[in-house]
Amino acid sequence: MAGALCASPVWPHCCPLASLHARMIVLAVLPFVLLCGALANDDICSAKPKDLPLQPMCIYRNLEKKTADDDDPEKIPEATNRRVWELSKANSRFALSFYRTLAEGKSSTGNIFMSPLSISTAFAMTKLGACEDTLEQIMQVFQFDSIKEKTSDQIHFFFAKLNCRLYRKANKSSELISANRLFGDKSLTFNDTYQNISEAMYDAKLLPLNFKQNFEAARITINDWVANKTEKRIQDVLPEGALDSNTVLVLVNTIYFKGQWKSKFAKSNVYSSEFFRTPEDACTVSMMYQETKFRYGKFPDDGVKVLELPYKGDDISMVLILPSEGHSLSAVEGDLTLEKILYWLGGMKVDKTVTVQIPRFRIEDSFSLKAKLQKMGLTDLFDSTRARLPGIVEGLQDEIFISDAYHKAFLEVNEEGSEAAASTAIVATGRSINWNREVFTANRPFLLLIREVSLNTIIFMGRVADPCP
Ligand SMILES: *[C@@H]1O[C@H](CO)[C@@H](O)[C@H](O)[C@H]1NC(C)=O
Ligand SMILES: *[C@@H]1O[C@H](CO)[C@@H](O)[C@H](O)[C@H]1NC(C)=O
Ligand SMILES: *[C@@H]1O[C@H](CO)[C@@H](O)[C@H](O)[C@H]1NC(C)=O
Ligand SMILES: *[C@@H]1O[C@H](CO)[C@@H](O)[C@H](O)[C@H]1NC(C)=O
Repeated sequence: MAGALCASPVWPHCCPLASLHARMIVLAVLPFVLLCGALANDDICSAKPKDLPLQPMCIYRNLEKKTADDDDPEKIPEATNRRVWELSKANSRFALSFYRTLAEGKSSTGNIFMSPLSISTAFAMTKLGACEDTLEQIMQVFQFDSIKEKTSDQIHFFFAKLNCRLYRKANKSSELISANRLFGDKSLTFNDTYQNISEAMYDAKLLPLNFKQNFEAARITINDWVANKTEKRIQDVLPEGALDSNTVLVLVNTIYFKGQWKSKFAKSNVYSSEFFRTPEDACTVSMMYQETKFRYGKFPDDGVKVLELPYKGDDISMVLILPSEGHSLSAVEGDLTLEKILYWLGGMKVDKTVTVQIPRFRIEDSFSLKAKLQKMGLTDLFDSTRARLPGIVEGLQDEIFISDAYHKAFLEVNEEGSEAAASTAIVATGRSINWNREVFTANRPFLLLIREVSLNTIIFMGRVADPCP
């Protein structure tokens, strides 16, 4: 068992039981979206934390003094804690810079889909056990250091508050659910404080598994848990080889969203149409059509049209960003910042009658986060010699690092919103388009965001470049 001396960060190299080889932590970040369908149920908020019960092992101090910015109090949404608002903004900033990194490394004809919120959440959970440069890099890359709090330890509390806000959906029609879990090697003693904070703040319980002797069985158990949480839609999220006998901990974060359009597309208004993956390369999609009042804006200087399709309940919406004809999506992507998105969202006209045509589609995306985050400056965490995660396992102070982090996401968009619910859709027939109306025809690559409206939290983000089945 770990010696008592090892508990103290003051003697980081004291551990008599220090293993010769570094141990791995694997992160799996698995959002899952199904915009029509049934789902499981879980409520992260059933035990809402009133206060941060315990301190993480290390605290990052933001030495930056107050900026002029502080004297210019920004309008924050009603009944919102300022720090929660700042965290939501930090997450959105991370979302956009991560998206740009992702888009740069991917062919412009490939789909992208991910949940930046679940990535931020998974790494915030890791931050609980981090110290020194490892902690500082997490604070910076995820923009947590932009939260105007003197110390980092409160971030988990604000995350819990943000999660309560996002996931508490009493009798709303759209459902947003997050499930977190830690799977730890059963031969190790995990720090009690770490486990308690993780459970209180992220509702992530630790399940002991036998990685040391049977990592393959453990991998299957974890994949089954994920499949179970995602209606079997996401299978085999941890690929073969993701775990080995040195695995210490696997941290899983899943997000699930199901929404019904506030204004559904009529089944009779779906028709086959061409989608131009490039100006020269068209494929056939099922195009959905409706003419309804939406929030809509045209931004000729940026070369985009922006349309917001709300889900029932109006708390979550899909924002579609379509480059105008002659503008390339990569140019739009290269310029994408939170300020730009806020500018578009703020400049949209409410209740504009728009003729909307968007394809019915289903996209899946999965990738390793490691190289992308390393490129953004998160290097120490993935480095077996540099990582400092002393707060997680008792007796293993500096031997733990993150071997990889996996992200897998799924999005299905269709016309339905399951049965019933009054549709406000003004249904016109198939292809008869009223040319006096604004026209939004997504027949070429576009971007989408799924956001919580009042906080503008970007829950999912993606590029639909090839929706053809
Ligand atoms: C567990 O972590 C806390 C800090 O979060 C630390 O104070 C404590 O000493 C650790 N316990 C052990 C046994 O390592
Ligand atoms: C929603 O909840 C409120 C109380 O929280 C209740 O009065 C109302 O009837 C509920 N609506 C539906 C459709 O269940
Ligand atoms: C963690 O929680 C358990 C159960 O609630 C409690 O018994 C234990 O004392 C807590 N540990 C710490 C370090 O607070
Ligand atoms: C899957 O979920 C169901 C209920 O949602 C539960 O009864 C079952 O034990 C779960 N299976 C696994 C393998 O976790």
